[in-house]
Order: sequence, then structure tokens, then C-alpha cells
Amino acid sequence: MNQKDKWMRGIPYQGNKGQKAQQIMDILPGGKRLIDLFGGGGSISLFATQQDKWQQIIYNELNRDIYQMFTEFIINHNQIDLTAFAVPNRERFFDALKKTDRTLADNIILTCWSFSNDRRSFLWGKKNEIKILVSRALFFGDTGTKYDALYEEASKLTTIREKYAYYHKFRLERLQQLEQLEQLEVSNKDYADVQIGKDDVVYCDPPYGNSRDYKDVPEWNPERFHEWYMKCPAKDIYISEYTPLPDTEIVADLGNKHRFTATCKRKHELLLKVKK
Ligand SMILES: C[S@@+](CC[C@H](N)C(=O)[O-])C[C@H]1O[C@@H](n2cnc3c(N)ncnc32)[C@H](O)[C@@H]1O
Repeated sequence: MNQKDKWMRGIPYQGNKGQKAQQIMDILPGGKRLIDLFGGGGSISLFATQQDKWQQIIYNELNRDIYQMFTEFIINHNQIDLTAFAVPNRERFFDALKKTDRTLADNIILTCWSFSNDRRSFLWGKKNEIKILVSRALFFGDTGTKYDALYEEASKLTTIREKYAYYHKFRLERLQQLEQLEQLEVSNKDYADVQIGKDDVVYCDPPYGNSRDYKDVPEWNPERFHEWYMKCPAKDIYISEYTPLPDTEIVADLGNKHRFTATCKRKHELLLKVKK
């Protein structure tokens, strides 16, 4: 997985399916909605936004803290609040213009922010404060905003042209990411309380059989889960598990989990489909 796609792994929370997510995506059938019922760190929901297989994706997670982290870091982080970025770059341009003893930074500003690079006329009107801010992040990384993330990569590039090309690529990817996240809805319920229709594709990555590993949620009850999936109206219900469950068939063996069991045997991650 390359660096720019790492965000799709979501929050590094136990049970994160980041490494198997693409395999799971390739197996799940397409449809109108995908419901990621035990969302956890969110890797399945985030990978799903990249697939063109579903019009809508529902991330559900009962644990409030994990749910909050997911929405804060992943969903809100990607919504850039433009009003927070009103910085006086115009003045900086004219300050540089007035100086007789210009620094390298002054000269870069005058070159990049002037119309036709004439180093005299300020490039943007007052409506475009955001462009000014992004450029400042690109060249100096000192805006104190999220855009400063651009600086690390851009500082390795030598020409202004390269730096701007990098910025445009970043902007494009960011916009795409924002658009894709628009299909994602989140909820913080017990799995049995999520509204599900017969055409939904339901993916379940529950706490594994008899596991008591998960904090701040009621102890896992496999019988209750079995009863629930037998009654659930959806035709396509998939479950990640290590061992087959009643009334399911194995649709894929996703290979070894990188963890040893008490008996030192490697567990195999299975993808099961509910049979009714
Ligand atoms: C195996 S993890 C899911 C990992 C997730 N697929 C990922 O890639 O990060 C199981 C999740 O189910 C949540 N959970 C436990 N009981 C639940 C319940 N009754 N309803 C909804 N979620 C529950 C746990 O808090 C945990 O985050």
C-alpha cells in the first residue's frame, strides 16, 4: 500500500482489517448500500468508499470512543474549514515589495505571488485568500494550518513549477477523497438496532467467538448474533471469523492472521456467508 492510501486503514484499533480489506472488497457483491456493522477503526468503510461498488456506505460502531475517534480524525479531518484560514499574506507581499534588502523568502514570495511573475503586482484578489494560504504552506510550512503538511514534500522539490504541480496533485486527491467520503454515513448503535433492508450488503466483523477483548461494549453473545442474522432481512450477509458459524458457508479463506493462538497454530481468517 502506498503512502497516500494509508488513511484508508482508518484508526489503528484492535481487529483492524486494513491488511485484508482489499481482498474483502473484491469478494463482497456490489449493491446500493454496504453496511459495515462492526466498523471499529473503519478500514472496511474507507476502502469501500474507493470501490465504485456501492452508492452508500454505513459505518456503525457501538463503542463511543472509537466512533468518536473515527468521526473526528477521519471524517472531520477531511473537511477543511475555509474560514479558519484568514491570514494577512497580502501585507506580507507588499512588505517584501517595499524592502531593499530582501531575503530568499521575500524573493520567492514576490516571484510566485505576482501576476505573470512580475514581482510587482499581487496575483490574487481578496476572494482568494485560501490560495494565498496554501501557497504559503507550500513554500514555508509556517501557516499553523493543515496545509503545512504540503511543505515536507514540497521542500524536496527545487523549482516553483514542481512545487505547484505537487500542490495541484494534492488538491485533486484531496477533493476526490472528500467526494468519496460524502457517501459515508456513520452510526453509534448496537448492531441489532441498525435499520437494514433486504437489498443491503451487510458485512460483519464482530468480536471473534467468545472473545472478551473489546472494552466498553457488552460481552459478546454468539447465540444472540446467530438469532439476529437468521432474522435479518438482507440476502447478502458476510461475516469475518476464524471458525465457521452455524448456518453459514465459507466463501473465502483469507489466509493466516499474523498472530499465534495459545496452541501456537496460526489462525485462518475466513469470510463466511449466511445461508438461509
Ligand atoms: C473485529 S472489530 C472490527 C474491526 C474493523 N473491521 C476494522 O477494520 O477496524 C469488532 C468491533 O465490534 C465492536 N462491537 C462489539 N460489540 C458490538 C455491538 N453489539 N454492536 C456494534 N459493534 C460492536 C467492537 O467495539 C469492535 O470495534
